[in-house]
Amino acid sequence: MTFKDFQTFKTAPIDGQKPGTSGLRKKVAVFSEPGYLETYTQAIFNAIEPAGKTFVLGGDGRFFNGEAIVTILRMAAANGVAKIILGQNGILSTPAVSHLIRKRGADGGFILSASHNPGGPNGDFGLKYNTANGGPAPEAITDEIVACAEAISEYKIGGDLSEVLPTLGDLGSYMFSGMEIEIIDPVEDYAALMEELFDFDAIRTMIDGGFTLRFDAMHAVTGPYAVEILERRLGATKGSVVNAVPLVDFGGGHPDPNPVWAKELFDHMHGPEAPDFGAASDGDGDRNMIVGKDIYVAPSDSLAVLAANAHLAPGYARGIAGVARSMPTSTASDRVAEKMGIEAFQTPTGWKFFSNLLDAGRATLCGEESAGTGSDHVREKDGLWAVLLWLNILAVRGESVADILMDHWQTYGRDYYSRHDYEALDTESANHLMTELKSKLTALPGLTAAGMTVKNAEDFAYTDPIDGSVATGQGIILTYEGGARAMLRLSGTGTEGATLRVYLEQYANTSEPLSRNVQEALSDVIAATSAVAGIQGILKRTEPDVIS
Ligand code: G1P
Ligand code: ZN
Repeated sequence: MTFKDFQTFKTAPIDGQKPGTSGLRKKVAVFSEPGYLETYTQAIFNAIEPAGKTFVLGGDGRFFNGEAIVTILRMAAANGVAKIILGQNGILSTPAVSHLIRKRGADGGFILSASHNPGGPNGDFGLKYNTANGGPAPEAITDEIVACAEAISEYKIGGDLSEVLPTLGDLGSYMFSGMEIEIIDPVEDYAALMEELFDFDAIRTMIDGGFTLRFDAMHAVTGPYAVEILERRLGATKGSVVNAVPLVDFGGGHPDPNPVWAKELFDHMHGPEAPDFGAASDGDGDRNMIVGKDIYVAPSDSLAVLAANAHLAPGYARGIAGVARSMPTSTASDRVAEKMGIEAFQTPTGWKFFSNLLDAGRATLCGEESAGTGSDHVREKDGLWAVLLWLNILAVRGESVADILMDHWQTYGRDYYSRHDYEALDTESANHLMTELKSKLTALPGLTAAGMTVKNAEDFAYTDPIDGSVATGQGIILTYEGGARAMLRLSGTGTEGATLRVYLEQYANTSEPLSRNVQEALSDVIAATSAVAGIQGILKRTEPDVIS
């Protein structure tokens, strides 16, 4: 075992981005600079005192995954870690890591991924630390990691791993410098959990009866999981899982399951060959997109539909305790919670804010507008879980996706919803827009723009109902008379410049026509918000780059 002095990368890992919502994400070129990954990894180790502990390790298979795994294994051994549970070939989806931490009673886990960001030598890489409950590290720990990264002057790394482990592909247990490395099948435990939660017999019967589906794995980590579960265990026709082979660069694609980046699936679902059900997941398997024949299910609606119908699946047959959604997610799920007489929570953006609610049994289902849905079965969002819950509901109700969605809107009304992203902004103007808006919040109520009157304007702060911790500055919420909302915040996950996200929402009750064009239904709130926030004037942009 050697002890290498730390070289020149003292504070680089946290420069410009605080590892929080999704760990630390940077370009591969940055992450692979000598000493960079090592510094961040050592900072995590310094923050969590790893000696004698057990951790789960795996990633989404993107470029640099294998090298990073070897470095982390060597550093774990040098830092006195007792055991690493490693996905075969370094592969584990994010929800699978979360499940393994919990199932094996591990002390935490390391996830190598930049989620839905592109991969390959010119793409992104990331490292996230999850705690013993299986969820992303809370702010107190990420703050500690940041402090350690700033104070760090050296890192510990073990010797040559290849003598013990020439490949990461063979299942089994190995000893390396006093540390056990157990290589496990990445799919097995996760698939078993899904069988516990869902009625596989009912889904299989539906598929045997002619129900067709297409799952787009986007050449990312869910390929092997989806083939095993959807094709092998549930009997979907071979080839129902497309782009099933994980590639280091995701085949050059952008593995983000939304109508823009999963256009191939989206178009197929709106074409003559459309199967009954379409779905996709992202780079590390925690996001999902659901599409029916000719109908897209917006993530906020999906959360509401799942909350209203979860009891149809065995894992939720006793009912759900509460529903939590991130602040920019539409209020559709609040209406379901109200009707069911259960609690509804509005949290800041980022899955870690759901952890306490899930741990305390206050929320059972959670969701974000950014295609994340999940439950208390793990402490991450879970793409395939959402797909299977939808399939379970479809199997029990015997109706189409479109029927279920229309029925939902007829019962609860419809929340027209869209997110407008302004990307690659210079950081200064993006910050300027937010500062300006914050400075005039108290003057906004009563103001009218584009025929909409601002009712309330707030800089969203959240007090965790379980531990009382407070998160401030989580985005601006503008509420308009008549029930529309607009939320504005800067992305915390981008790796180039700044991204302004503007989230727009207009509620229409059941007496109004429920199938209007979404952008049309939102046109007033779009125009009003643009005027109130001074988007065109400050950003010098007339149109968003991405509308989802
Ligand atoms: C984005 C999403 C957010 C999600 C996060 C991690 O963060 O908007 O909902 O939790 O990715 O997947 P953002 O770039 O908006 O900070
Ligand atoms: Zn992801």
